[in-house]
Amino acid sequence: MAVYLFLALGVVLVLCVCTALLRWNEVRYMKKGLPPGTMGWPVVGETTEFLKQGPNFMKNQSARYGSFFKSHILGCPTIVSMDPEVNRYILMNEAKGLVPGYPQSMLDILGECNIAAVHGASHKHLRGALLSLVSPTMIRDQLLPKIDRFMRSHLACWDDGSIIDLQDKTKQMALLMQIGIDSSSISQEFIPEFFKLVLGTLSLPIDLPGTNYRRGFQARKNILGMLRKLIEERRASREAHNDMLGGLMRSDDNKYKLNDEEIIDQIITIMYSGYETVSTTSMMAVKYLHDNPSVLHELRKEHLGIRAKKRPEDPIEWEDLKAMRFTRAVIFETSRLATVVNGVLRKTTKDMELNGFLIPKGWRIYVYTREINYNPRLYPDTLAFNPWRWLDKSVECHNYNLIFGGGTRQCPGKELGIAEISTFLHYFVTRYRWEEIGGDKLMKFPRVEAPNGLHIRVSPQC
Ligand code: HEM
Repeated sequence: MAVYLFLALGVVLVLCVCTALLRWNEVRYMKKGLPPGTMGWPVVGETTEFLKQGPNFMKNQSARYGSFFKSHILGCPTIVSMDPEVNRYILMNEAKGLVPGYPQSMLDILGECNIAAVHGASHKHLRGALLSLVSPTMIRDQLLPKIDRFMRSHLACWDDGSIIDLQDKTKQMALLMQIGIDSSSISQEFIPEFFKLVLGTLSLPIDLPGTNYRRGFQARKNILGMLRKLIEERRASREAHNDMLGGLMRSDDNKYKLNDEEIIDQIITIMYSGYETVSTTSMMAVKYLHDNPSVLHELRKEHLGIRAKKRPEDPIEWEDLKAMRFTRAVIFETSRLATVVNGVLRKTTKDMELNGFLIPKGWRIYVYTREINYNPRLYPDTLAFNPWRWLDKSVECHNYNLIFGGGTRQCPGKELGIAEISTFLHYFVTRYRWEEIGGDKLMKFPRVEAPNGLHIRVSPQC
């Protein structure tokens, strides 16, 4: 009997402590004018629920508190905005004090000079430098021929009868393409370090042996060493290199001259930003094509039409890329349904009024854009994979298409990413047919991924 009494007292005590902690955390962040919402537990807030339930957490909270609510996720008091108008306003008004607010681990590992860590004049300068590397002229004259060469060899011999993990293949492909440095010697040591770096940016900034953060930070140091050495070698040889590093190092006629630290951080940022977005979208495009034979038929028709006008050894050129209208639509529809970037993070540089509420200085704002992609008014029959909807150009240009972000931070690599995925699809669907082995699990949150790979068997296209 006494045991039961103790147990009951224990349970009551635990409940009291939990309630007190939750209440204390609510009171701590209670400020006049803040939007409604809950702050969860001290320190961790509602991070566990957010990561576990993903889009459902957002749906539940917005059902209770509306599309603009407060929470505590990823270590910070955060306002979640799911309102299309407000989201657009936030992205268009960085100058009013709504600057990028990415987690500390990301800033530490991608570097202080990375484009997402700076704002104002510095951002303008770095962005100018990046845009000059990925402009339409650069894509046409320099990048596309390289992408074509790369894809031809990367996609060779996939039909040798073995089972292929498509996720692995598209990851390798995107990483090697983003590295884009004319040096095979650097890529070999670089790849494992880069994977550690990526994991580190997605971890809590706990600098202890064995943590992903510590490994990621160490990987950054190793990558810095490799890139510094490469820069020195290139300066000493005076040989011109037509790659991204070469473009950033060119000092004559370059109005966006950067110092070495800035160059290195931009190279790391370009790889980081292009790697997962391009690999995951490529993998998911193949998945949706497999599940939607009529879309595959239309896409293949487009690519066989382009090939028919060429010899087998002729590369994909700018005009061919422009003619890939349906392919572009497939890429947008894939990105809509398998949203790789669920939202972007901002933080307030001062106390400010937003959407009728008062947001304190230093709070994060999670501009959650994923929900817009599933809005039935913008995309009727919203869950259907229907690339034809994107053939109406106004759909790509409408104000709430934030797949590539918006405002002054809109993705500078958008057209490059589309060129890479289009070229991949070109060689994949004109060379091969494929079937899924089946049974592979796919996750869409917090990252779009196949936790155990996406296995396919490839045969030649007759
Ligand atoms: C399917 C492919 C891609 C998608 C969906 C995508 C998406 C995005 C989004 C949503 C943003 C906005 C981030 C923000 O507002 O904070 C962004 C920014 C950025 N992206 Fe991409 N991206 C893609 C490919 C690429 C590629 C290939 C590159 C390489 C050049 C790249 C480089 C960048 C950079 C450097 C930024 C930061 C821009 C700034 O802060 O001004 N992205 N991207």
